[in-house]
Amino acid sequence: PRNVARGADGALTVAGLAVRDLAAEFGTPAYVLDEDDLRSRCRDFRAAFPDVDVYYAGKAFLCRAVVRMIDEEGLHLDVCSGGELATALAAGMPPERIGFHGNNKSVAELTRAVDAGVGRIIVDSFTEIDRLGALARERGVRPKVLIRVTVGVEAHTHEFIATAHEDQKFGFSLAGGAAAAAAFKILDEDVLELRGLHSHIGSQIFDASGFEVSARRVLALQAQIRDARGVELPELDLGGGFGIAYTTQDDPAAPHDLAKRLRKIVDGECAAERLAVPRLSIEPGRAIVGPAVFTLYEVGTVKDVDGIRTYVSVDGGMSDNIRTALYDASYSATLASRASAAEPMLARVVGKHCESGDIVVKDEFLPADVQPGDLVAVPGTGAYCRSMASNYNHVPRPPVVAVRGGQARVIVRRETEEDLLALDVG
Ligand code: LLP
Repeated sequence: PRNVARGADGALTVAGLAVRDLAAEFGTPAYVLDEDDLRSRCRDFRAAFPDVDVYYAGKAFLCRAVVRMIDEEGLHLDVCSGGELATALAAGMPPERIGFHGNNKSVAELTRAVDAGVGRIIVDSFTEIDRLGALARERGVRPKVLIRVTVGVEAHTHEFIATAHEDQKFGFSLAGGAAAAAAFKILDEDVLELRGLHSHIGSQIFDASGFEVSARRVLALQAQIRDARGVELPELDLGGGFGIAYTTQDDPAAPHDLAKRLRKIVDGECAAERLAVPRLSIEPGRAIVGPAVFTLYEVGTVKDVDGIRTYVSVDGGMSDNIRTALYDASYSATLASRASAAEPMLARVVGKHCESGDIVVKDEFLPADVQPGDLVAVPGTGAYCRSMASNYNHVPRPPVVAVRGGQARVIVRRETEEDLLALDVG
């Protein structure tokens, strides 16, 4: 996070608070959210993308306090389940600034969204168009929808592949004609208000060319719809996926550069097709919350295994960060509770779970004198860590502690053993 520093004693501080004090007060493991950092990333996106609606993708991490921060910073919010929608509404997010995603929204979820008056529903299948249409007729309303278009661009970090077809569950295929058919169906039936097209090409993307190819392809469809039906769709969503640096090896594009490139492509393509430039929106999740959080762990054991490797076990693991085990993701770790002049030692930071794949940080140099009782911080854990956390091995999930201007407050409390037992019946 931006407001992390080393104090005079060499120990880590965040927003003016010593992490040792945070650990003493809130326990470990804990996710520590630098609130000013999150807010400044919201502002960076808004400044970099003027005239673009920025939807924070709540799947990265959502709780009521974060919904309020997002709302206060003037962002919109993307939700993808009834639970996320409920959280957004409970926190007072204006429904017209909510977009609702998902490839299998239930009738109950759609009903709730329609009744709440969410600003846009991103439809993902013909079944959903029928469901939503029936609901709209029954309720006498005309929900605003975008069509999720599968553009045949698959992007991950440094590479993207542009293919004609993409074999995956989301959206309507562009190449196969399903996307155009969905647009014609919605326009012909006229029960739903078609606001625009939507594409999302992947996550943790560094290479902006994937977004450019995708923008070109959706705008070509936009022109096709105009030619066939005489309708110019007023909005266009280019999705999320902007990458962040997890280690010093990563070099993500700055929002400003990305914005410039996208604007150029969209304006150029619209001019070439003689289309009015649609109102753009994007959906960053990771890039807003990811870097704003670190996980604070306490070291429990340090084990040298036959001189091959040193395992530093911390008091959490794959239940609070599944990404290393699931995606082979890279993280870094740092000794947080003190300074050390000891030699660096290659270590593997592992958790307390009952399987050997329970790795938090594959390789990291930690001071050779790292020992039980030390605190270790793992940065970049704001996105897809708490939101993908589990109770594996009946480990209660850690709290989220927001820090700002020398003050700390719990925004998600630690789970207790009572919480775990509360669901057992009998
Ligand atoms: N919009 C849509 C339609 C999405 O499906 C996603 C992410 C986003 C926006 C936000 O993407 P972001 O800006 O956060 O990259 N669990 C995986 C990531 C899954 C992303 C799913 N969709 C991980 O931990 O890397």
